[in-house]
Parts: sequence; structure tokens; C-alpha cells
Amino acid sequence: MTDAFLPKKDGYVIAVVGATGAVGQTILEILAERNFPVAELIPVASSRSAGSAVTYKKKEYIVQDLETFDPSGVDIALFSAGGDTSKEHAPRFAAAGCYVVDNSSAWRMDENICLVVPEVNPHALEMARENKIIANPNCSTIQLVVALKPLHDAVPIERVVVSTYQAVSGAGGKAMDELAKQTGQLLNVQSVDVNVFPARIAFNVIPHIDVFMDDGYTKEERKMMDETRKIMDADIAVTATAVRVPVFYGHSESVNITFDGPMNAENARKLLAEAEGVCVVDDPSSEDYPMPSEAAGTDPVWVGRIRDDYSCANSLHLWVVADNVRKGAALNAVQIAEILISQS
Ligand code: A2P
Repeated sequence: MTDAFLPKKDGYVIAVVGATGAVGQTILEILAERNFPVAELIPVASSRSAGSAVTYKKKEYIVQDLETFDPSGVDIALFSAGGDTSKEHAPRFAAAGCYVVDNSSAWRMDENICLVVPEVNPHALEMARENKIIANPNCSTIQLVVALKPLHDAVPIERVVVSTYQAVSGAGGKAMDELAKQTGQLLNVQSVDVNVFPARIAFNVIPHIDVFMDDGYTKEERKMMDETRKIMDADIAVTATAVRVPVFYGHSESVNITFDGPMNAENARKLLAEAEGVCVVDDPSSEDYPMPSEAAGTDPVWVGRIRDDYSCANSLHLWVVADNVRKGAALNAVQIAEILISQS
């Protein structure tokens, strides 16, 4: 038994920073669905939406302006308002004694900040007792490590090659509006407006997420490679190609894994079927496999197309799908908050 992170209370003061955004809205839904013990809910966003209302458990709550908001008395703040906002304001919340669970990339690779997926490395949270900030990994990384963990525990993973098929919701509300608008424009034979993505996303596939780095990788690819190693094991070799596809909700990943010892598809299927947070859907005879259209709105990480890779010893292919806004962001953050209030 370890000491609880927060004292036992009937309800906690929860601030949701970025409450008007795609992830913030889902955090509110998930807090309600999971009956999180909320004594006071405080939605926070920029001055643009301060004074407007958001709905939580059928009641309206007025959005506070982050610039002037005083975090004293807040137990947990769930931040999803971008990296710069988090860099500026998370330390202020932490200094006021509040735990910050941050969805941005601002703190993820800071060696003093833990990067946590509850099914994979909950013990890493110990680090947050002092500095109070906890980083939520990148959406693509979360679903990847939930699927890799039970396999790595059985036989150490040597190398992972992942290619992603990422939904537009990962880029926020404006990105979803852009896909919808461009789709309408193209169907009406109009020219398209490109604002959020680097190219047209409707009826297209863009092999470019976040900015390019000097070595030709994108930052999204670098995040997956670095974060997977930080969460799981620094000895795993990881390489990634991150691709945006015209899907609203649900990231898919083609994953090729090489193990340091004997592993095959049959064994992997059994391990994954018993793993926490994973659902296996893998029946080629009835054409059953995970897809974002079915994973959207659900909590598990769905795994299918489990096959031996005949081109390389001790290697497998997996197809991994999850709702990027739920498990990839909001749900993972709420699960971390649940550990922070647990008393055992
Ligand atoms: P606002 O509605 O006031 O712009 P999304 O990822 O869907 O684009 O949402 C981003 C979220 O982050 C929104 O809630 C947005 O609030 C919030 N946000 C963006 N910039 C800031 C900022 N500088 N301060 C506080 N909240 C911010």
C-alpha cells in the first residue's frame, strides 16, 4: 500500500483547462460517464470563450478566463489547451498545490515529468508527488503502448515499425470543421479552402503531421519514437511514419514488431485477449477486424489482423485502432485522475 496522492474526500475540485475544445468537451463527458467524484467543476479557456457556458451533467457552467483564473483550492486540473498555454500556466497551477494532467507535448520528454498510461506504467506517477505535473502521451503513442505492453512483458520487444492513419480530430475542432467544409466544397464542385492542414485533407492522405525536423522526420513521428521508449523501455528500437487520413474520429496503426525471442501470432492473440484495456477483433473468416468507424466513441484499444511476419524471425503484424480523443487523450487523462484520488 502506498500513500494516496490526494486525501480522501467525497468530491474533488476539478478544473478543465481547454473545456471548450474537442478534448476538453470529451473530458467533461467522460468525467460524467465514469461518475468521477466532482465537488466543483471549473471550465477554463481563453478570453475568447470566457463567459460562455459549457454543459456538464445537464447543467451549465460558465467558462473562466485562464489568464485571470486563480487555481488555489483546485485538486486536479486537466489541461488540453495547447503546448504554449501549458508551458505558461501549468507551473502556476502546480505551485498552487494542484495536480496538473497535461495533454500537450510541452512536458512529455522533460526528464523530471512522468509520462503515464495507466495500463502500462502507473508506477511512474510517483514522480509527480513533488512537481505535480503529469504528461499525457501523444494519442498515437497511447494506443501503441497499450497493445505492445502485454507482448513486451512476455518476450522483450527488440524493434517496432509503425505507420499511422490518423483522424482529423487529433488536430482539434477547427481541423474537423475543415474536413467537413472541404468535403462539401468538393462535392459541390467548388474550390477548397486549406487553412488548418498543410494540404487538402478531404479525399486525400497527407504524410505530414506536425512540423518537419532537420532529419526529414516529422515531430509527430519523433514523439511516437521517443515517448514509446520513455513509457516502456529505452532499449526498444522504434521507427514511425505518421499519416493524416480523412476520418473524423479514430486513429489506426499498422504495427510490425520483432521480438528478442520466440513469439508467434497465436501466442500474441492469447496475450492480447487477456490484456487490460485491449479488445481483440481478429477473425478473417468472418471479415472481422477493427476499424475507426466502430472504435469511435469506445474506450478500448482494438487489435486485429494479428499475423506472423514470414519475412523476419520472431516478428508479427498487428492492426491497432482506438478513439484518439477518448483513449488517446481525454480518457487517459481521467484514468490518471482516478489514480490520483484512489486511496489504495
Ligand atoms: P477557446 O475556446 O477560448 O479558444 P481545440 O483543440 O479543439 O482547438 O481546442 C483548444 C482548447 O484550448 C479550447 O478550449 C481553447 O479555448 C483552449 N485554448 C487555446 N488557447 C488558449 C489560451 N491561450 N488560453 C486558454 N485556453 C486556450
